[in-house]
Amino acid sequence: MKNIEIIGTGMAKAKRCITNDDLAKTVDTSDEWITTRTGIKERRFCSEEEDAYTLAYEAARNALSSANVKAEEIDCIVCGTISGEYVTPSMACLVQKELGIKEDIPVLDVNAACSGFIYGLEVARGLLNSTGGSYGLVIGCEHLSKLLDMEDRNTCVLFGDGAGACVIQTVEGGLYQSVLGARGGYEIAVEGPGKERSIIHMDGKAVFKFAVEAIPKCLHELQKKGNITLDDVDMVVCHQANSRIIDHCIRKLHADAGKFYKNMDRFGNTSAASVPMALDEVVKTKKAKVGDTLMLVGFGGGLTWAGVLLRIGEKHETIG
Ligand code: ACO
Repeated sequence: MKNIEIIGTGMAKAKRCITNDDLAKTVDTSDEWITTRTGIKERRFCSEEEDAYTLAYEAARNALSSANVKAEEIDCIVCGTISGEYVTPSMACLVQKELGIKEDIPVLDVNAACSGFIYGLEVARGLLNSTGGSYGLVIGCEHLSKLLDMEDRNTCVLFGDGAGACVIQTVEGGLYQSVLGARGGYEIAVEGPGKERSIIHMDGKAVFKFAVEAIPKCLHELQKKGNITLDDVDMVVCHQANSRIIDHCIRKLHADAGKFYKNMDRFGNTSAASVPMALDEVVKTKKAKVGDTLMLVGFGGGLTWAGVLLRIGEKHETIG
């Protein structure tokens, strides 16, 4: 089985910026409460003309351009999302059509909530190996604001909209490991299509407890499988749900806090989009460069957890 590396990243921010003070005008909350409990200062919500699909398309286009890979070179598309406009066609199929990506390739969505993008990387790796393809497009996109009860202060302050994407390339050798898991439960639940409007329900305390076990567990397993330590890793990109969760894990692991990227202060929790959005910022701000080693870790609804250890690469001109 060939390994994969990331050769391009992209993201799309939703247009409406909603600050904690904006939310404090409509629910009984405060900037102080939200900031100290979560690290979130503001989040982006879709404007009238935006949705999960428009954000996914923009992020995908940016990723292709940063990878210097043409749409027709893509050999599979996998999209992590829980908030697409349609149950079918999948988000990945809509992006395929709009970008003019070829037809005889696997194209599908993955529902693993906030772990969806990382599950997507592993699914894409499997598909590229089974089809003999070279380049995959992996997306995480969400329009969570439409699933929020804006009168429920327990949830409406936490989430945001956005999309991130990356282009992966198969490589001989290299470094790649993954850890995927799930434990069925209703701690985070969103109804499917039906008479009632779908909204996010969450047992925040239970999810917090789960997260501070799941992240170190993923990081430990990746270190063991890859036969490396966190010292050998250049950056760790965790799901951006809550800065206290990441801080708790850093303390538990006695890790270097500078390696754990955070951007939830500006975007809140964007579920499947959070890791690829943070990854794009890590790459674009040169906190990680070609040849660097990354660990990406997600956790969320399902309950699910996922981690990958991989490298940033450059387009390999001789393949594809
Ligand atoms: N403003 C003010 N007060 C609030 C707010 C708010 N926005 N939200 C809750 N409170 C109140 C509660 O009502 C409660 O009041 P009470 O004591 O009078 O009942 C009090 O604050 C404490 O509430 P807790 O739930 O105990 O607060 P906690 O410190 O646990 O923080 C939080 C809550 C931020 C949700 C935290 O539990 C958390 O981050 N959990 C993890 C969530 C997560 O990671 N989700 C990721 C997955 S999501 C996905 O997969 C789609």
